[in-house]
Amino acid sequence: MFIDKILLKNYRNIKETILDLSPNLNIILGYNGQGKTNLLESIYLLGTGSSHRSNVDSDLINWHREKALVQVLLKKKDQDLRLSLIFTALQKRIEINNTPYKKISDLIGNLNIVLFSPEDLNLIKGGPSYRRKFLDIEVSQVSPYYYHLLNEYKHILKQRNNLLKNIRDKKDNKELLEVWDEKLIETGSKVINKRIDVVEKLKLLARLGQRKITNGSENLKIDYDCSLSNTGKKEETDIIFKQDLVNNRKEEIYKGYTIFGPHRDDLILKVNDIDIRKFGSQGQQRTTALALKLAELEFMKSETGEYPVLLLDDVFSELDELRRDTLLSVVTDRIQTIITATDLSIPSVLKRDHYKVFNVREGNIKEE
Ligand SMILES: Nc1ncnc2c1ncn2[C@@H]1O[C@H](COP(=O)(O)OP(=O)(O)OP(=O)(O)O)[C@@H](O)[C@H]1O
Ligand SMILES: [Mg+2]
Repeated sequence: MFIDKILLKNYRNIKETILDLSPNLNIILGYNGQGKTNLLESIYLLGTGSSHRSNVDSDLINWHREKALVQVLLKKKDQDLRLSLIFTALQKRIEINNTPYKKISDLIGNLNIVLFSPEDLNLIKGGPSYRRKFLDIEVSQVSPYYYHLLNEYKHILKQRNNLLKNIRDKKDNKELLEVWDEKLIETGSKVINKRIDVVEKLKLLARLGQRKITNGSENLKIDYDCSLSNTGKKEETDIIFKQDLVNNRKEEIYKGYTIFGPHRDDLILKVNDIDIRKFGSQGQQRTTALALKLAELEFMKSETGEYPVLLLDDVFSELDELRRDTLLSVVTDRIQTIITATDLSIPSVLKRDHYKVFNVREGNIKEE
């Protein structure tokens, strides 16, 4: 799939812009603080339903305006789509081909996105929540059912945690837990099992990615690290979940929150059998983050039959020549890529009709 046109109105510092994008490579150039990441963020928002930088919708609207619009014309294998998101501080309105929708879940899955930015080093260095988020955003984009499950799970977890606190503070009765346990186990087991399936697929793809970037010298191994006492077989996830809850009742009540479940899970990342999180060099960690993103591209392709749109924010300056070339060779002629940089010497392998260059200055974006 690729974005043919994008229209922005009052999105952060971008006042009104229409861009015709190349289906191949788009290079967005500008000094710091001009609006490059804002452009990528708006595309990410339309794909995933939320910004990667802010949880507050009003942050995304120009400070001097009340309403913002992001719209794309999307070309997919079997159809063209016009996706719009119109939002105020209080509400979001979605339109798909002029039909209005209310829920963000209606939007997700239409425009698939993979974003790679310098902060993705957190995928390796940061806490487990970064890796869970990586999995969740990726899977949600290709499976509306998973997105729905995840939201349901979050809701149940919140209720159950409140109840645990109340039981601890003697405001509620222990017996009430059983109902919430059942809901937690049912939904949580489905989330875990789906993630286990996805990690099985990613495992192979990420291994290939890492080998490619390092000329075969590094072997990446990914595993799903489940908080349940034994993941064992998928058919048993719910049984083990239940045992863990029952056996640790006292501790959960004492702590006042749920200590088992997909919200506590993680990914283990090993390179040549060494835990890359703890012992990897900065370069190896970067490579692994890139390998995970390349795996994500291939995963989405295998699930949907089309490559997603790739957003690369400021990452070229951080990669050495081999990694840069590998990345370009992966994307060229196959994956629409939008890349930002403060300056970029355009690699000579690129033919002129394969890319477009845009300059950004104080929120104005112009094709060169
Ligand atoms: N809601 C908003 N309204 C108006 N301007 C905003 C809003 N939110 C952020 N900005 C401004 O947008 C500007 C550009 O931000 P952006 O992150 O896109 O820069 P950038 O070009 O990616 O810079 P860098 O190269 O440093 O990453 C910032 O200077 C910021 O002050
Ligand atoms: Mg930026």
